[in-house]
Amino acid sequence: MDFKNVDMGKLALQLRKPEGDVGTEVGAAMAQFNMGAIAFTIECLDIQPTDHILEIGFGPGEAIAEVVRLTPNGYVAGIDHSPVMLEMAAHRNHKAMMQEHVELTLGDARALPYEDESFDKVFAVNVFQFWPDPTTELAECHRVLKSGGRIAFFLTHPTSWLPGIRETGVFTAREADDVKKNLANAGFTNIEIRETKTEPDGKGFVVMGEK
Ligand SMILES: C[S@@+](CC[C@H](N)C(=O)[O-])C[C@H]1O[C@@H](n2cnc3c(N)ncnc32)[C@H](O)[C@@H]1O
Repeated sequence: MDFKNVDMGKLALQLRKPEGDVGTEVGAAMAQFNMGAIAFTIECLDIQPTDHILEIGFGPGEAIAEVVRLTPNGYVAGIDHSPVMLEMAAHRNHKAMMQEHVELTLGDARALPYEDESFDKVFAVNVFQFWPDPTTELAECHRVLKSGGRIAFFLTHPTSWLPGIRETGVFTAREADDVKKNLANAGFTNIEIRETKTEPDGKGFVVMGEK
């Protein structure tokens, strides 16, 4: 899919929640577009082989596959509110799901279906922009993280967004310092910003914190 020659309003809604055949195409494009962002976020997470990890908004499931590879003695959970993305990610991670190394769930970040203190790491790549007021989502992330656990959000910087996408109003534009404040308000500590410039994604940053 050529992201530059489509209706930006429709594309923005598809990026927020991929649906139908177009959603499958958008998912395939995401897998390419977010590759560098995923690699950078995973690097920041310092994943250990026994970690229990949650990804929010897994999309087509590329990051899940990489995290599975890095946690041979761990466990990986993923949640996404798009049935189309669940289907794509389940196809991509079929073997690991059969081995009960991974569990993918249809659901919303505002109500995470996990016990308190379940995960060593929680992360999301280009999902935070869809949370205009992230208070509930961050409270949920804080609840499911173990004490000492790490959270990481990657956001493509608004200056690297596709032309016209900002005007759709579907995405909330934030600087790294805004996200840092959001994390601090939610009770996270040792908050750190790491900036990157990865092609083809353009400029982006990870904001990390600890519980
Ligand atoms: C732009 S895509 C990014 C997908 C993937 N993280 C990647 O890097 O390719 C955003 C994803 O987050 C999911 N999503 C957005 N808001 C969500 C929410 N509140 N709860 C669960 N999933 C959400 C969408 O369905 C979509 O799959």
